[in-house]
Amino acid sequence: MRTLGINEGDGMKLSNKIALITGAANGIGLALAKRFCREGASVVLADLRADELEHAVEEIKQGQPAVRCLGLTVDVADRASVETMMGKAVDAFGGIDILVSNAGVWKNLTKGPFWEISTAEWRNTFSVNTEGAFNCAASAAPHLIARKSGRIIFIGSAAIGEALAHITQYTASKSAVTGLMRCVAKELGKHGITVNMINPGQIDTGAFTREQLEARAQSKFINRVGAPQDLEGIVSLLASDEGGFITAQQVYVDGGGVLN
Ligand SMILES: NC(=O)c1ccc[n+]([C@@H]2O[C@H](COP(=O)([O-])OP(=O)(O)OC[C@H]3O[C@@H](n4cnc5c(N)ncnc54)[C@H](O)[C@@H]3O)[C@@H](O)[C@H]2O)c1
Repeated sequence: MRTLGINEGDGMKLSNKIALITGAANGIGLALAKRFCREGASVVLADLRADELEHAVEEIKQGQPAVRCLGLTVDVADRASVETMMGKAVDAFGGIDILVSNAGVWKNLTKGPFWEISTAEWRNTFSVNTEGAFNCAASAAPHLIARKSGRIIFIGSAAIGEALAHITQYTASKSAVTGLMRCVAKELGKHGITVNMINPGQIDTGAFTREQLEARAQSKFINRVGAPQDLEGIVSLLASDEGGFITAQQVYVDGGGVLN
C-alpha cells in the first residue's frame, strides 16, 4: 500500500479542527497524526519518548511550513503530566476538538498463563492502557464541554472480542476501556460530544516478523497484513463533522474475525 504525502489526497475533512493524539511518535498514532495534518487539522502529537516525538514532528513538517503540528511529551499514566500537556496544547492552538487516546503498551508484555502475570506488570499495563485513557479523557472533557462539541476516540484492540489469552493483562486493560468509552459517551452526549472506540486487529508496527504477520493474516477473512493506514479512514470519519450521530460504538478494524 502506498503511503500518501502530507498534502496528498484525502480532502480537508478536519480543517479548523484541533486534534490531540497520544502515543503519536510511532506506529498507529503517527499514521493518524499525518492523516489529520493532511486533512487540515492542527495536531498535537503527545508521547513519552521525547527523541522519537521530535523526529516524528520534523518528519511531518518537512517541506510543509503550512502544517500546524506540535510535539508534547507526556506520561499518560500520570494525571498531572496529562493535565500539564493538555494545558500546553490548549495554549498553543486555542482549544481542543478531538482527542485520540492511542498510547498503549503491548509490545514488551509477558506472554503466558494468567496466573504467572506479576502484580507489577498487571498494574503497569492498566496504568497506561486504562488509566491513561481515563486521564486523557478526563483532562480533555472540560475543554470539549466548553466548545459544546467534540470527539473522543479510544484505540482499543481486537483482543477484546477475541478474548485473546496468554496476554490477559493486555486484553483486560483494553476491555476496561470499552466500559469507560460507553460511560463517557453517555455523560458527554448532551454536550454534543461523540465518544467511540476503534479495535485494531494485528497491525504491522514493527513488533513481528513478516512471516509471523503473514501467518496470522491467514486466519482472517481478508488475508493480508494490516497497516496503520488501514485505521486512518474510520478514525478520520469519526473525528469529522460527518461522524456527529455515531457514538458509544466499537469498530473492529481487523480484516474480519471478531463478529461484533
Ligand atoms: N499494532 C497492533 O497490532 C495493535 C493491535 C491492536 C491494538 N493496538 C493498540 O494501538 C495503539 C498503538 O499501537 P502501536 O502498534 O502503534 O504501538 P507502538 O508501540 O508502535 O506505539 C505506541 C506509542 O505509545 C507511546 N507510549 C507508551 N506508553 C506511553 C505513556 N505512558 N505515555 C505516553 N505515550 C506512551 C510509545 O512511546 C509509542 O510511541 C496501542 O494502544 C495498542 O495497544 C495495536
